[in-house]
Amino acid sequence: MDKLVIEGGKKLHGEVPVSGAKNAALPLIAATLLAPGVHILHNVPDLRDTRTMLKLMGQLGVQSRWDGAVVTVDTTHLHHGEAPYELVKTMRASVLVLGPLAARLGAARVSLPGGCAIGARPIELHIKGLEQLGARCCLENGYVDVTTTKRLQGAEICLTVPSVTATENLVMAAVLAEGTTVLKNAAKEPEITNLVDMLLGMGAHIEGRESDVLTVHGVSRLRPADCRIIPDRIEAGTYLLAIAATGGEGRITHCNPGHLAALLEKLRATGLVIEESEDSVTIKQPAAAKGLRSVDITTRPYPGYPTDLQAQFMALMTLANEESTIKETIFENRFMHVPELQRLGAMIRIEGNTAFVTGTTGLAGAKVMATDLRASSSLVIAGLAARGRTEISRIYHLERGYEYLVEKFSGLGAVIWKEKE
Ligand code: EPZ
Repeated sequence: MDKLVIEGGKKLHGEVPVSGAKNAALPLIAATLLAPGVHILHNVPDLRDTRTMLKLMGQLGVQSRWDGAVVTVDTTHLHHGEAPYELVKTMRASVLVLGPLAARLGAARVSLPGGCAIGARPIELHIKGLEQLGARCCLENGYVDVTTTKRLQGAEICLTVPSVTATENLVMAAVLAEGTTVLKNAAKEPEITNLVDMLLGMGAHIEGRESDVLTVHGVSRLRPADCRIIPDRIEAGTYLLAIAATGGEGRITHCNPGHLAALLEKLRATGLVIEESEDSVTIKQPAAAKGLRSVDITTRPYPGYPTDLQAQFMALMTLANEESTIKETIFENRFMHVPELQRLGAMIRIEGNTAFVTGTTGLAGAKVMATDLRASSSLVIAGLAARGRTEISRIYHLERGYEYLVEKFSGLGAVIWKEKE
């Protein structure tokens, strides 16, 4: 197992490019199952999770090849199969093959993902939606078996919560269904729009792009895709917050500032100077350094403040002037980073789904443990801001979602390296 070692207290500066979005790459790779043939995906991040998804598809007869950030996926020889527990337990997003397999093959067998560090994360909305499209879903021995006797049938589906992957699964199932599906209270994260654009390019008929009502007119077949993965807004946000926490200045390139509006609004409220161009964001310290103002956030579905940037924002607020309130409304257990931040000297009190963060003048390095992907990136931010050395164990969590993290932070002047535990 590797650990990350950081010699903190150095102001970050310079430029860092953003990679393709993990949470777009996963559904777009799964969507290639919908059409036989050779698909080309551009700007695919080389992550533990994207490799897991391709490995899973390999077990279903799909061949894939990397050429830099371009992945060629050949789904011609797709055959029945199952998404085994061994893979699904390492990446819940494996559940994204359910919809496309049910639509293309009329059958899918996928291990239930089970619990997760940040919450129970059930998938009943995925299953209920597939049943409304005419599939038969049977849960047994930790697996969900989806079968259909004929083509899926269009239906009106209303999601009780705007679940991101449930929206993705059901749109992918509906594009090859007979008739029209209306998906209400759909999630509208940019990653979903990336998927809708890919499907439109494959010949699907979908209305309501970027809205919470998606109307899908089923077609009998689709053609292979050639499309681009959008920039990772969560990765971009993580680097912006890291630069801010070290008192540095820098530019995030190859990103889409429009996808970061909720974060940029909060960063401006702390007093930081934010400049946007078409594909970059520059962050600067205020002229008269009065220190960071404390700012409250409440996580919400897009376009609200993203839950995947909650932990990283908390790390910044540990260094602000006064007290800030951080409310987590999406996942019931997403404060695992708090006790680790407290080891670095942060002052945080939790009451239910709210954390009260009292700013301090500085953090001090310590040994801490990563618990999930975004919690671990908040520890990296705190470690970069802290005086002295910080060691973060279990960094396999980070490798799931951040491409070339050590190289990118080193490029910004951080003293950071990986070591065997
Ligand atoms: C996606 O997860 C992302 N993962 C998550 O990113 C992200 O945190 C989340 O959306 C919210 O933005 C991917 O895209 C691969 P949800 P997802 O279904 O789809 C409840 C990261 O760090 N719910 O939108 O699994 C659920 O429990 C990861 O990159 C049900 O109750 O999240 C949660 O409370 C972490 N029943 C809420 O909805 C269901 O059937 C939102 O979850 C489905 C969801």
